[in-house]
Amino acid sequence: MPTRCTIPDVRRPKHYRDDCDRIAFMYDPLVRSLSAFIGGERGLETMRTSVINEMGVTPGKKVLDVCCGTGVMCAMIADVVGARGEVVGVDLSEKMLKKAEKRKKDNIRFCISNAEEIPYEDGYFDCASITFGLHEMPYQVRMNVLCEMRRVIKPGGKIAVLDYSYPTNKLIRYLFNIWMFVEGETAKDFVKRDLSSMIRDAGFNFIEKSVCSYNTVQIVSGVRCGEVR
Ligand SMILES: C[S@@+](CC[C@H](N)C(=O)[O-])C[C@H]1O[C@@H](n2cnc3c(N)ncnc32)[C@H](O)[C@@H]1O
Repeated sequence: MPTRCTIPDVRRPKHYRDDCDRIAFMYDPLVRSLSAFIGGERGLETMRTSVINEMGVTPGKKVLDVCCGTGVMCAMIADVVGARGEVVGVDLSEKMLKKAEKRKKDNIRFCISNAEEIPYEDGYFDCASITFGLHEMPYQVRMNVLCEMRRVIKPGGKIAVLDYSYPTNKLIRYLFNIWMFVEGETAKDFVKRDLSSMIRDAGFNFIEKSVCSYNTVQIVSGVRCGEVR
């Protein structure tokens, strides 16, 4: 299997923040230090493992990771699906994907592509994840991405989303708001909306939600309903 597929003439949508490219070289160490606020590296790994469990990943499955960044999730999923399985990581940042290549395994393929137009046929994947990707997009793009994830997974397949949540505790909320100021407008909008409703509106049911790290992070999953549109 080729490890990288580049879609010719990938257009970057207007909303796309080029800073993902700019920070690619220090993304992993940055996440490592910031993760101190959400339970450290081990805490983050536990959350990612929960996402994999929520999707019901088992050996032999075909799994999509949208906005895969430097490929941490893909590498973890690849260990679970094994040699008979397949993992595809999609991202628009060539520099992030260059970092991801270092985590390459035989059963992983990275794709430079807009998550609104995933270059796979309807129902190709068993399940799909997106971690800390949706808060980077305006509302309509988020919905487009969730609908696109629905299109490429099989009916009955699961989606799992890991992203920020708006904390209820006043002190935590104060600190979190400072962080949201750094993250920018799309993140501020994201945490004010109900992720479960977004996932339901994109065509999933049996929505399940859990929160962690003082309610600053949520994991929401859903099952794809209906026939392929
Ligand atoms: C904050 S990073 C998260 C990376 C990784 N999922 C993680 O958990 O560390 C967000 C990623 O989303 C990607 N991204 C944002 N909008 C995108 C889009 N429309 N299509 C594909 N990737 C996109 C960025 O390039 C970036 O790599």
